[in-house]
Amino acid sequence: MRLYIIGAGVIARTHAAAAAHLQEDVEIFAADPSPAARAGFAEANPAAALFENADGMLAAQDAHPDDVVVVATPPRHHLEPALGALRSGRHVLVEKPLAMNAREADELLEAARAQGRMLGVCSTRFRGLPHNEAVKRALADRIVGDPYHLRFQTVWAHSRAGIEYQPESLWFLDSRQAGGGVLMDWGPYDVSTLLELFRPDRVDVLAAWVGSPRTGGEPPAVVHDTESHAGASLVLHLSSGDRLPVTYERANHTPGEPVSRAELHGSTAAISWVPFDSAQPVLHHIHITGEPVVRELPAPATATLTPFDRPLVFFVDRLRGRPSLAMVDAAAADEARIIDAIYRTAADAQARSIDVRGPIATTDFAVLR
Ligand SMILES: NC(=O)c1ccc[n+]([C@@H]2O[C@H](COP(=O)([O-])OP(=O)(O)OC[C@H]3O[C@@H](n4cnc5c(N)ncnc54)[C@H](O)[C@@H]3O)[C@@H](O)[C@H]2O)c1
Repeated sequence: MRLYIIGAGVIARTHAAAAAHLQEDVEIFAADPSPAARAGFAEANPAAALFENADGMLAAQDAHPDDVVVVATPPRHHLEPALGALRSGRHVLVEKPLAMNAREADELLEAARAQGRMLGVCSTRFRGLPHNEAVKRALADRIVGDPYHLRFQTVWAHSRAGIEYQPESLWFLDSRQAGGGVLMDWGPYDVSTLLELFRPDRVDVLAAWVGSPRTGGEPPAVVHDTESHAGASLVLHLSSGDRLPVTYERANHTPGEPVSRAELHGSTAAISWVPFDSAQPVLHHIHITGEPVVRELPAPATATLTPFDRPLVFFVDRLRGRPSLAMVDAAAADEARIIDAIYRTAADAQARSIDVRGPIATTDFAVLR
């Protein structure tokens, strides 16, 4: 197959490396206006064909039904290249966040439908990791009884993209380029995880907030208007008819105490885990004859694909009709619509409700790679 990558920066190189895990021969092409980015990409991928712009790259050959285009540019430059790639007749996998807002996400979905091509988003990096599979099994086995609340918090300090992490990519700090801060950068993984674990039909955003606490260590004289801390009070409407309230929080910087914890509370027990960290146990908190007992839940063997391999491998698995945790088409746009709703509720304090059109891919222990 032919893999075309638009944008040849940090994440583009991980997609090129992921191609080695596809079950077919792959020819790699990449386009980036930056000579430094092209040089770095060529060094890691000497066989790749490099182009200065995406249109020229895609026009150089007629589209083939197996072609896949990955859009790996900053969010401000996802829409136009992705539309161009879809209109060239190719399947398109877009880096997270899919789009700057819900309107752009729906425009991409419409273009994919009109072209009969698949649209995917790369927020699947943590899907299928052992801890998430253990949680899915616990939910299927209903080991907490009737769930009544989920706490879902990943609150880090001093890990802002564009400052403490990847400081050369200052675009992360500028909302006109990045669309927003930590909610655009990490929110897609959170929403992707919540959709996969609970498969709601609808998500209500009851209240939301963003914060931008400063350390004094910010780079001077650059546009920096993005949040580093965000949260929301959500309600997931489950297909069973039950409602699951979620206390959601995410930060790449907070002046307070870092915390990474998910805890699902139910009528007979709770389960807890560390979102995004399969090295930590998934725990079952129960009472036996009145006494509290904590047991570790079994998790499947460590997955062989890294988080960076997963978006491309899942997307191609889906295209080829194999079991896959890819996030595609309406589900990809739904994720962007939920993030957009959280920002809008944080801005205007109005609750809103998002229908999940899905379908949300799910699978079980047996197909893990
Ligand atoms: N860096 C990470 O760890 C990471 C992880 C997961 C996802 N992502 C996502 O990947 C995307 C890119 O991030 P990155 O870290 O690779 O950024 P980066 O700054 O390393 O690279 C972006 C590249 O895109 C190029 N570019 C900009 N506009 C372009 C256009 N119209 N056509 C072609 N190339 C263009 C730039 O010249 C630059 O080389 C973002 O959506 C980001 O959220 C990044």
